[in-house]
Amino acid sequence: MNMQQNVLEKIQQLDKLETVHLQNAVIGLAELATEEAQAHTDPQQQRLFLQHWYGNDPGYFWLIFNKVRSRAPRESVWSKYGLLQLLKGPASEYIQWGMISHEPKEAIELLREYFNTLVHNATNEHRFLLVRFLWESRNEGIKSNISENWLKKADPGLKRSLGQNFNELSKHLENLFHVWKAQVEADTEEATSAFEKVDLSLPGVHRPIGSHHLIRQVFQEIEDIFVSIGFSVVEGPEIETPYYNFEALNIPEFHAVRDDMDTFYLELPKGAATPLLLRTHTSPMQIRTMEKQKPPVRVIVPGKVYRRDNPDATHSFAFHQIEGLAVDTDITFCDFTGTIEYFVKQFFGPSVKTRFRPSYFPFTEPSVEFDVSCPFCGGTGTAAAGGTCTKCKGAAWIELFGAGMVDPAVYGFVNYDAKKVSGFAFGIGIDRLAMLKYGIDDIQVFFQNDVRFLRQFP
Ligand code: FA5
Repeated sequence: MNMQQNVLEKIQQLDKLETVHLQNAVIGLAELATEEAQAHTDPQQQRLFLQHWYGNDPGYFWLIFNKVRSRAPRESVWSKYGLLQLLKGPASEYIQWGMISHEPKEAIELLREYFNTLVHNATNEHRFLLVRFLWESRNEGIKSNISENWLKKADPGLKRSLGQNFNELSKHLENLFHVWKAQVEADTEEATSAFEKVDLSLPGVHRPIGSHHLIRQVFQEIEDIFVSIGFSVVEGPEIETPYYNFEALNIPEFHAVRDDMDTFYLELPKGAATPLLLRTHTSPMQIRTMEKQKPPVRVIVPGKVYRRDNPDATHSFAFHQIEGLAVDTDITFCDFTGTIEYFVKQFFGPSVKTRFRPSYFPFTEPSVEFDVSCPFCGGTGTAAAGGTCTKCKGAAWIELFGAGMVDPAVYGFVNYDAKKVSGFAFGIGIDRLAMLKYGIDDIQVFFQNDVRFLRQFP
């Protein structure tokens, strides 16, 4: 096996070694390099040796350097792994030669050659730092080594020319390092400025800005109105128990009202503690809120609700409601009507008229349906272009939502004293309210998410 194969094989073996044995192996290679430096007395052979080991990227040294770095990434430990020894080998050898020679010029020339080779192969900052360290390091560096061991001990007759040669070498290397740094900085700057160059004539990048869905916008409008008169916003679960969705709202099992609110029950494992269903209205949050806090209560509850209704222009199986609940010691029907009228006038404008009609909900007593004068025909029942108003179908009124004074039976479920407290509740269907306000004639457009529709409400 020739020398080259032997070295390459030893370098390959570094991969298989455990890290603790790495140092010895690299030191072994450093010894090989020094031996080879010693063996070549002819300057031409020396140059070839330098190219083999330290040049011709990746030369042996750089191969070894990469392997050590991948195993020991911290710069401070590299010298521990024999790298510095390997790097220093030839330079120390040349210094020795210079010390015993009467004409040390050749040794200085080889040192210059050696550093040139190293710097030209320092293709990244780590390599460069290592090379500069080899020259400049105060204790281990070649520069201080030369002045300590060579210049100081030189024959007096040689000192002058040796000093001159050494100064030239120092200047040359400083210049070499400087050029290396400047080149790297220029390359980085060039790369950065090419990257950052802006062509002002190019069209800009169009970033479409999204907006809230109309339903979310209407929620926000309603929340703002109620928050401004002292209500807080709370949210609740969309999956409910029959107790909260029905029983605690005074709708016992087999009550006829449940038929109107047929919904989706969840498939649960056998033996589940309670059936679960998608809530049919936001009213369960009346119970959950009152269970949690003592009067006074003033909350609104926005959210999604579900019913097994067949889709048409005014029905969807998933839709949105806002529940309202106010309970205190002296809330009257007047507070109730005043609050609702205030809300409707804020939402539709001051010219809209309102009216109550008797209705029925098991959890309010009395219960009402709340109507507004048709905002499309101005409450006349006649369209502006003549003929019957298509929105209110000539009725001049549009039904808005159900409401009422909280039924005293409900207080029994939440441990409120029905003799001391009173209050009102309402449940507004948001989708139909949005349809009314924005002149939309099909509820399904809210769920189709066609951007041509959504873009009309930025
Ligand atoms: C209720 O849901 C009661 N919880 C409201 C209530 C709350 C009354 C508090 C009293 C006190 P109702 O079933 O009428 O009531 O529904 C309320 C509103 O939801 C309706 O006015 C309507 O606007 C809307 N709505 C009902 N079903 C659908 C549906 N399938 N699609 C779209 N909106 C609907």
